Amino acid sequence: MAKAKRQYVCQNCGSATYRWQGQCADCGEWNTLVEEAGETVFSAKHDLSKGGRTLVLETLDADSKMPDRMLCGIAEFDRALGGGFVAGSATLIGGDPGIGKSTLLLQAAGRLAKSGKSVVYISGEEAAAQVRLRAQRLGLGDAPVALASATSVRDILATLDRKSADFVVIDSIQTMHSDLIDSAPGTVSQVRASAQELIRYAKDGGAAIVLVGHVTKDGTIAGPRVLEHMVDTVLAFEGERSHQYRILRAVKNRFGGTDEIGVFAMGEEGLGEVSNPSSLFLTDRSRDVPGSVVFPALEGTRPVLVEVQALTVRLASGATPRRAVVGWDSGRLAMVLAVLEARCGLQMGAAEVYLNIAGGYRLTDPAADLAVAAALISAFTERPVPADAIVFGELSLSGEVRQVSHDGLRLREAAKLGFSTGWGPKGMKAVKGISVSGFGRLGELVDLMLGRD
Ligand code: TYD
Ligand code: MG
Repeated sequence: MAKAKRQYVCQNCGSATYRWQGQCADCGEWNTLVEEAGETVFSAKHDLSKGGRTLVLETLDADSKMPDRMLCGIAEFDRALGGGFVAGSATLIGGDPGIGKSTLLLQAAGRLAKSGKSVVYISGEEAAAQVRLRAQRLGLGDAPVALASATSVRDILATLDRKSADFVVIDSIQTMHSDLIDSAPGTVSQVRASAQELIRYAKDGGAAIVLVGHVTKDGTIAGPRVLEHMVDTVLAFEGERSHQYRILRAVKNRFGGTDEIGVFAMGEEGLGEVSNPSSLFLTDRSRDVPGSVVFPALEGTRPVLVEVQALTVRLASGATPRRAVVGWDSGRLAMVLAVLEARCGLQMGAAEVYLNIAGGYRLTDPAADLAVAAALISAFTERPVPADAIVFGELSLSGEVRQVSHDGLRLREAAKLGFSTGWGPKGMKAVKGISVSGFGRLGELVDLMLGRD
């Protein structure tokens, strides 16, 4: 016998319990459990081992054709997707409020519509007139985009059924509402049910659907992590709202790699493409200041030079020192500080440490370790790193400097931008236009910076 049971679903991680609790037992968040209509529960006696249909099993070497791709014409967007939108796929794009998700998708929708695709844009957050005004401001007033302001999934699917759309935007999935479920829009079960129906429409009808998702304070797509499992591609739209630059990054991609990014600048006419971002984050750099180091990060196949800034403040003994990081992993900073203290004898334990990646950039490249270490040593000893030097390398806990990928590419780009010195792992190959110094251990870098032999 199947029966429906009430349940309490955590709005942060999606886990369900049958009793209300103040704190979610899975993710530890407080006051996130909300009563929702339960899923149908079958009794344990229900036996799945009988009565099924035998599946046809296939081999891996059979011919299958590559999925159809649709280029939206915004090269940076197509690049982040791994070569355009795939027909019959679902894409989730997440980002902070006001970062430019609606703007980007409206621009993509406009371009696709102008190229002859059938495009539908459904906004659950703004009135159609608002979207139309924005489109006119973006110079897309004449694009044949079919526009509606709606939140009922049933209505949306009924509308889409009569129109064979190639590209559908749902802005946002948290405002969508399925009348099969009696909880409020934005709750885990609503979002999951609405997304499931919309994704099914895309898979059956061969449209590419894009769902906009809001993001919580800690950077995950709000409420349901489950949504990330349901879609084919998850894109994150990042950047500081106060800065002009935005980065579109694939977090998951069933049809391509996740290592390419798209770089945009928000301007008067919407999001402009930045096709050569390598020196973007270096503008306004102050030279010969202790604690500032340039690091050649790698985004997919493109090098991006970023400035790492460190500040250390020595405290009177007794107080607990503060460690704050913007744009890098705080666990990784603790590791570099520990290696500096234990392997190189720098007494940083009692100092406050602040680390910032300039320009609102987020570093994920492990080769940043040595650049961070150099910035910390420089800040702590008040000796600037030469302004024409770049630093990269991965650190191990023993204080060894490890080889990193694509050292040649990083050095060549730095040379192109006028840097003449490269500090990195021992054994990297020299490149024309830049002199390289290799370090086997972090201690050798400390000796060099302190002028010790
Ligand atoms: P929006 O796309 O509405 O953000 P999201 O959908 O992610 O919440 O972008 C809103 C911000 O972008 C808004 O604060 C104004 C800015 N903006 C520009 O600077 N120039 C423009 O041409 C547009 C359309 C928006
Ligand atoms: Mg929006």
